[in-house]
Amino acid sequence: RPVVFSGMQPSSDSLHLGNYLGALVNWVALQDDYDPIYCVVDLHAITVAQDPAALRANVRATAAQYLAAGVDLERSTLFVQSHVPAHAELAWVLSTITGFGEASRMTQFKDKSARHGADATTVGLFTYPVLMAADILLYGTHLVPVGDDQRQHLELTRDLAGRFNSRYGDTFTVPEAMIPAQSARIYDLQEPTAKMSKSAASPAGLVNLLDEPSVTAKKFKSAVTDTEREIRFDPETKPGISNLLGIYAAISRRSIASLEGEYAGRGYGDLKKDLAEVVVEAVSPIRTRTLELLQDPAELDRLLAVGAQKATERAERTLALVYDRVGFLRRR
Ligand code: TYM
Repeated sequence: RPVVFSGMQPSSDSLHLGNYLGALVNWVALQDDYDPIYCVVDLHAITVAQDPAALRANVRATAAQYLAAGVDLERSTLFVQSHVPAHAELAWVLSTITGFGEASRMTQFKDKSARHGADATTVGLFTYPVLMAADILLYGTHLVPVGDDQRQHLELTRDLAGRFNSRYGDTFTVPEAMIPAQSARIYDLQEPTAKMSKSAASPAGLVNLLDEPSVTAKKFKSAVTDTEREIRFDPETKPGISNLLGIYAAISRRSIASLEGEYAGRGYGDLKKDLAEVVVEAVSPIRTRTLELLQDPAELDRLLAVGAQKATERAERTLALVYDRVGFLRRR
């Protein structure tokens, strides 16, 4: 079976609707035909300052949300990035074939470093995409299900794989990104031209999987729209309504056209109320199951240890091959 790899940062206790529709839904669907490996990328999370106690809790909460959303340990491997040292080790090797200019062109780095300012921007944030390439390349990954914001990082990963292969001989599989058509980019409900993100300007624009249903409903009700009355998909002039239609289509697996038809002549209030119901119906079982799983942290830790063991065996094999190819003396 072809390998799938993906990960999310445990930078908050709750995942959000963008994480869910942009990636997690696909992770679950791919389990039937692939050999999936899903990772909680704590090494990536510390590229911006994290409170240590909160980070530990957020790692468990993130893993619990993967499971609650349908990641099935009979078919998938689930582990925490820092439990498998080969990720950091391969990242070092890959950093030596990454151009400084190439890394400087990563738009996510440019955005984040602009936001934090030069002094708060770390070398870790700069080399972040190289670590991501290591995550993916360690497992001979074919397919990487992610949202649109990871597209450029995937391109870099492909470039590094190709460069290593041509310099040292065929070693890595060159992976493909899998980016959903409808929900590759979910926008903030209060600021519908900015992508939904944990670092949202206002909490009202961010729909968390672990929000209480009444909170979710309120966020949709107060979503920013426009001064027209027509429910029509037009991201240029109607970003708010278009985002709501995009979320609705993705979560209900319907087409935008059929939703436009259904809401023709009806008000924005109707759309928001119905959408809130559809979203709550989809995410509240995930919330409930996550809270159950978090009741037993020892069991979660045990499941993560099993995953780490499986991942380590696979990752170590690739790392040994890489070390051999670059000419490191084998340890006896
Ligand atoms: P992260 O933690 O920022 O986001 C996790 C996943 O959610 C997707 N996503 C979105 N999709 C649609 N609309 C949005 N508003 C939205 N916000 C986030 C992201 O595209 C991602 O798929 N660098 C990665 C984590 C990572 C990784 C990897 C991913 C580390 N190593 C290896 C794949 C393979 C990140 O920061 O994702």
